[in-house]
Amino acid sequence: MCGITGFTGKQPALPFLLQGLSKLEYRGYDSAGVTLVNSRKLKTWKTKGRLSELEKKLPNDLAQSCGIGHTRWATHGVPSNMNAHPHMNSDNSISVVHNGIVENYAVLKKELLEEGYTFHSDTDSEVIVQLLDFYYRRKPVMKEALMRTVKRLEGSYALCVTSIYEPNTIYVAKKESPMVLGMSKEGTFCASDAPAMLEYTREILPLQDGQFAILNKDSLEVFDTDGKPAEKKWIHFPYDVQSAQKGGYDSFMMKEIHEQPSVIRETLRGRFRGTHVVLPNIEALDVDWNEIHETYFIACGTAYHACIYASGLYQRYTGKLSTAVPASEFRYSSPNVDGHTLCIFVSQSGETADTLAALKLAKAKGCPTIAVVNVLGSSIARQTDAVLYTAAGPEIAVASTKAYTTQLVLLHVLILKLAELYGVRVKGIGALIRDLKRLPEITEEVLKNEPFMKKCAGMLKDQRDAYFIGRQLDYPSALEGALKLKEVSYVHADAYYAGELKHGPIALIEKNTVVLALATQPDVAGKTISNIKETVARGARVILVTDQTMRADEFKYVVRIPELTPSLSAVPCAVLTQLFAYYAAKEKGCDIDKPRNLAKSVTVE
Ligand code: M6R
Repeated sequence: MCGITGFTGKQPALPFLLQGLSKLEYRGYDSAGVTLVNSRKLKTWKTKGRLSELEKKLPNDLAQSCGIGHTRWATHGVPSNMNAHPHMNSDNSISVVHNGIVENYAVLKKELLEEGYTFHSDTDSEVIVQLLDFYYRRKPVMKEALMRTVKRLEGSYALCVTSIYEPNTIYVAKKESPMVLGMSKEGTFCASDAPAMLEYTREILPLQDGQFAILNKDSLEVFDTDGKPAEKKWIHFPYDVQSAQKGGYDSFMMKEIHEQPSVIRETLRGRFRGTHVVLPNIEALDVDWNEIHETYFIACGTAYHACIYASGLYQRYTGKLSTAVPASEFRYSSPNVDGHTLCIFVSQSGETADTLAALKLAKAKGCPTIAVVNVLGSSIARQTDAVLYTAAGPEIAVASTKAYTTQLVLLHVLILKLAELYGVRVKGIGALIRDLKRLPEITEEVLKNEPFMKKCAGMLKDQRDAYFIGRQLDYPSALEGALKLKEVSYVHADAYYAGELKHGPIALIEKNTVVLALATQPDVAGKTISNIKETVARGARVILVTDQTMRADEFKYVVRIPELTPSLSAVPCAVLTQLFAYYAAKEKGCDIDKPRNLAKSVTVE
């Protein structure tokens, strides 16, 4: 996720670009940059760090009335001045900002290198400006050069182009990344999201996939993929600036819950070729895979729950030994690990002190290490042998939601890769990959249960405790559901293996105690149902999450997840328990995005 702004008008462009970018900083903030145009040249300023760093670099007297701006959330190439946008062609006549991922950038870059082009960054985005340059030199018509360029791009993009050839014009194109357009008496604008332009107008024109637009100071034209004029569908934007930054949701947690379909899609992008798993940096590791005897999955908090899930999956798919350990335990446990032990670290921030210390210990002991991280260029990402990035974008709410589900998905992909490297054939892999790819739509479907989960959360109104139960791969989902509930609503919550209830915890069940039961694993779901009946007999109110087939007529509150390979149901379970926690917190009037006593990134021990 990145933030983009563009302005061409009758007054200086910079104020719009900067105020717009400041409203989009929730989309990314690891570097920032602007290009301003006058008739003879493009002037570009960019810097690593937040927008405020860029502002310090800018002279006071910038009067150019056309320009583009960008704040970056790095996906290819660490946050740095060099990788910051805008990117320019070699004679500095064309400038481009991009949000999205160019999946085939390596192929395009190779082609352009062979044509004599030079590259100045590690980003996928730079190929766009070089490709534009390539086509523009063949036929100097920017509209055609842009159409030919975007036809070559695989993946997602929202991009803006400005050039010395048409100094008052901005070209805009979009596929699968957001882009909105607007006009007012001041000029014509574009941005990644409406908050950037709400101070100027509430009439917004969202660009559709495949469309592109040409912005001039008093005109705005929209075209379809073939370059024919397209219908403009304006909408009136109903929110004020503050709520618009949260996409109209009342908290970042809720916005991030709803972003899950798209970030899961981004995380899966380009990971499979048929049943082959495409993770080149894992293949490139200098590891004798037949000599790996044991694997540790190591993390903290929510990421640790992703590790418990991954460990179960790993044993199931590879038949090899594995253990999930909290990083705070691993680092002090004098672990008996060596070059035959693969250590996999999971972290949203990539800066968690315990996880980083555990990584350093594993490396000191000679273990091969892999990290699954969300923040590009973070300490854990830099120090591991190979890093895989979730594409969750910035997670602002303290409670982890979209980072967790993207971890589940990417760990799944990684484990399939490891099975491949071990020479183990995973049974039903074709169907599994098909279902992995369906996860964005399935998540969309599961989100429709929001009103139902809200109703269920209402059961907690006068309750101080709740219990989450599940077996096998439902157990990490129970742990994560309980953690989410306690961290945002302060309701005491515990999670148990369903079969463990009768060995002690059932003593806590009394009239109206809330039990959320996860029974999505067909082999053991019937057993979990029996355990629930034991709680109902003691007065519990049960919310049952199960698959499409399980008989559950005797329960009043049942939510069925869409049909899916059972090893993937941790994703729908996470979405449902996130909604449950959110509405419990809302009912109790808690500060949902900033729960008491917690910090987003725990960089101290
Ligand atoms: O940034 P990390 O993933 O390493 O953070 C680990 C935990 O602090 C984090 O998952 C925490 O448990 C979540 N905020 C819970 O929602």
